[in-house]
Amino acid sequence: MPTILITGCSSGFGLETAKLFLARGWDVIATMRTPNEDLLPASEHLRILALDVTKPDSIAQAVQAAGHIDVLVNNAGFGAPSPIELTAPETVEALFQTNTIGTLSMVQAVLPQMRQRRSGVVVNVTSTVTVKTLPVVGIYRASKAAVNAFTESLALEMQPFGVRVHIVLPGRSPETNFGVNARPHLRGMDDPDYAPLLQQFVKNVQDDTVPVTHASDVAAAIWKAATDPSAPLRIPGGKDAELWMAEAGW
Ligand SMILES: NC(=O)c1ccc[n+]([C@@H]2O[C@H](COP(=O)([O-])OP(=O)(O)OC[C@H]3O[C@@H](n4cnc5c(N)ncnc54)[C@H](OP(=O)(O)O)[C@@H]3O)[C@@H](O)[C@H]2O)c1
Repeated sequence: MPTILITGCSSGFGLETAKLFLARGWDVIATMRTPNEDLLPASEHLRILALDVTKPDSIAQAVQAAGHIDVLVNNAGFGAPSPIELTAPETVEALFQTNTIGTLSMVQAVLPQMRQRRSGVVVNVTSTVTVKTLPVVGIYRASKAAVNAFTESLALEMQPFGVRVHIVLPGRSPETNFGVNARPHLRGMDDPDYAPLLQQFVKNVQDDTVPVTHASDVAAAIWKAATDPSAPLRIPGGKDAELWMAEAGW
């Protein structure tokens, strides 16, 4: 069976994707910043490795320990809802280090073996916030749009070598820890100029009358990327993602 390595498997889309591939008999390397053996069913097809995508040593060790990787899924990431003016420099840096450079570093670490074998699949998880111009998520959006941009070029570069490259764009998912992990980075609620924008943002993310993305939708989109050679470069990760992407002509 093929081997898939997934980043950010401690919760949300990464964990759900690891479960799906395990259930379908794949060899799964579930990576986490803090390895936790209790999150996934014990299996001879499962390996759990420590991996922080912002740490070059951690990347080198995990990729070395992983060995053969058929499919790489760059899922690790976080959000920071904040008006651009109020976003702390360390938050800007952390967003790009994790979402953009973390993804790029993983690609650079795993690509040589795929290129040499003339086979493999890279799946980078970005977001539908890259599809629409929205306030309050500007820096997060930029960190993910940068991934879209280099992934599109990578797809062209890898075409002659038989390595497929895809972008999975999830919509808004209240099912994961994304909101909880973003909350400490929320800025502007106490600023009279920005508060209305933030309040509208919070209202939008709590709106349960519109379609949302389920973790299973994202796992299914990653399954499609991994297994269907005719899958498009950009794959929506949920019902809302499908609507947004269709509206934008993506
Ligand atoms: N949920 C949404 O609405 C949504 C929408 C569009 C796109 N996305 C994207 O989907 C991906 C998964 O998010 P999610 O919704 O599943 O959220 P989540 O439940 O918070 O999962 C994020 C995962 O990334 C990991 N992570 C964060 N920083 C890391 C680092 N430096 N190194 C390795 N792992 C790290 C987290 O690990 P820890 O437990 O150690 O923090 C966690 O496992 C992210 O890239 C996110 O930007 C989410």
